[in-house]
Formats: sequence, C-alpha cells, structure tokens
Amino acid sequence: MTGCGDPRLNSLDPSGPAGEMQLSLIKLSLGIMIGVFTVVTIIYVYVLVRYRQRPGQNDIPKQVEGSTKLEILWTVIPIALLAVLAVPTISATFSLAKKPPQGQSVEVKVIGHQYWWEFVYPQYGIRTSQELHIPVGKKVHFEITSTDVIHSFWVPNLGGKMDAIPGKKNNMWLQADKPGRYVGKCAELCGASHALMDFTVIAQTQQDFDKWVKAQQNPQSMATNKTLEQGKQLVAQNCIGCHAVRGAGFRYEGKKGPDLTGFGQRTTIAGFLPHDEKHLQAWLKNPQAFKPGARMPKIGYLDDQEMKALTQYLMSLK
Ligand code: CUA
Repeated sequence: MTGCGDPRLNSLDPSGPAGEMQLSLIKLSLGIMIGVFTVVTIIYVYVLVRYRQRPGQNDIPKQVEGSTKLEILWTVIPIALLAVLAVPTISATFSLAKKPPQGQSVEVKVIGHQYWWEFVYPQYGIRTSQELHIPVGKKVHFEITSTDVIHSFWVPNLGGKMDAIPGKKNNMWLQADKPGRYVGKCAELCGASHALMDFTVIAQTQQDFDKWVKAQQNPQSMATNKTLEQGKQLVAQNCIGCHAVRGAGFRYEGKKGPDLTGFGQRTTIAGFLPHDEKHLQAWLKNPQAFKPGARMPKIGYLDDQEMKALTQYLMSLK
C-alpha cells in the first residue's frame, strides 16, 4: 500500500524526461502565481495604508469612474502571463502525445479494467497484468484505453497522467532514466475499488528487460510433482474460464480476467497484496473482502489441501 509520503509516488521527484518536462511546467506556473500574489498583496497593503481614513477626515473621497489606462493594463498583463504559461504547456502536451518514430520505442497497449490493468506488448507478442516492465533510457509509447468505465493511467514519478476511455485510444509516452520500481495509480474515480487499482512499473536495464521478454515468450509451467499436477488441474477447472496461463496451454483468446502467465514471478497479488501463498489463498477465498466490486468470483468450495495445491501451482508459474 502507498501513502502520500511514499517516495515512489512523487510527481516532484521525476525519474524521466516526461516527468521533468511536467515538473518544469509546475515550477513555471507556481512562479507566475507567486509573482502575481506578491504584486497584488503589495498594492493591496499600500492602498490600505496610503488611503486610509485619517482623524478629522469626514468628507467623501474623490469618486473615479472608469480608467481606460488601468483597464488596458489589467487586461494586457493577465493575457501576457497566460501566454507565457500557454506556449510551453501546449508544446509539452503535444510532444508528450506524439508517437515516437517507428522502431525507436517500446509499444505498450494499456487497457484499464475494473479494477486492474492489462499491458500488451504487440512488438513481442506478450501480455501481462498489474506489472509493467519497461527498459530504461528508452521512450515507451502507450496506447491507452478501457473496457468498462473511464480510468486514468498515472505513474507520478515518470509523468502522466492519461485517461483510459472506453472506445477511445489515447496516446502518451514515458521514459525512465534509472532502473527501479515505480508506483502506478488509477487517477479517475471508477468505482468502489478505485483506490486499490494500483500497478507497479518495473524499469530495467535493456538486458534485464530483454531477458524478461524472452521468459514471457517462453513461459514455463512445470508440474513436477503430484501437488503441482493437482494444482494445474484445479486451475483448469476453476480459473481458465477467465484467465490465461500461456505456458500451460491455457490460451488468452476470449478471456476476461488478467493473464496469469508467469504469475509466480510477480511481486504483488491483485496489484497491491503481498505476493505469498497465504495472501493468495485469502484473496481466492474472498476477493471482494480485499477489492469491493471486483469481478473475480470467490473460490470457497475447495478444501485446504486443494487450495494449497492450487496456490502452489500458481506460485510456480515462471
Ligand atoms: Cu480505475 Cu479508478
């Protein structure tokens, strides 16, 4: 779980060019606001003091109606300030939405669901959920959409955010300059579990990223003992109506839930729970207790031994 003090969730400490560009816009607008506030406050205090009612002064002051000079001044100054803000804002907005030239970026299709994220890498023929792997030092181009309601894709430390709207494809690129983990959030109120719609961005060196891609392309699903073999069968009976496990031959096509290929290598369950068997069992027994409104049905009918086999198998997926 993350709070406001989490350093991995901080727009003011960008770890890539998109975030830096946006931080410089924040600084510019803050600077303009401080300037305006200071000037207005000085004039206000000056007028209060200079034109205050003095003892014995009981006549009405000189009444002034209209001043062309002043009116021009207070029209021109805000226009000039807005122009100073608008030019870099518009240019940054367009440059962040621009698709990098073919072959120079990693393409990721982002699909928002209530309440999880799907990431598709068309260049590599892989897909994952909740964990977004990206190489450092390279632009990652996102095509963002949703299957149900409006979500918003946001990685505060890298920049963003961009709405995920059903039936519409929004474009944005981000880049991480150093390896690390960054917290991703849904930034649009989308239902009961909006606040739990987290994901993790794992920025890796190109080498590590290539390794991850290779592993995803050749997923392993080893049922090396009886328990795992039983677990695999339980997955086939209970999970693959909605989930894919590509290494085990449970294909993606037509599945509505997150792809579980390589699940054992992930670091969270459902995007925010600790990645261990205990939490996985608790989640499977009652997903609604953790993520109200989640579409995931509960698996309450397995006995302890079956539940153990099922979770062990899922944790063994590489
Ligand atoms: Cu999805 Cu908020």
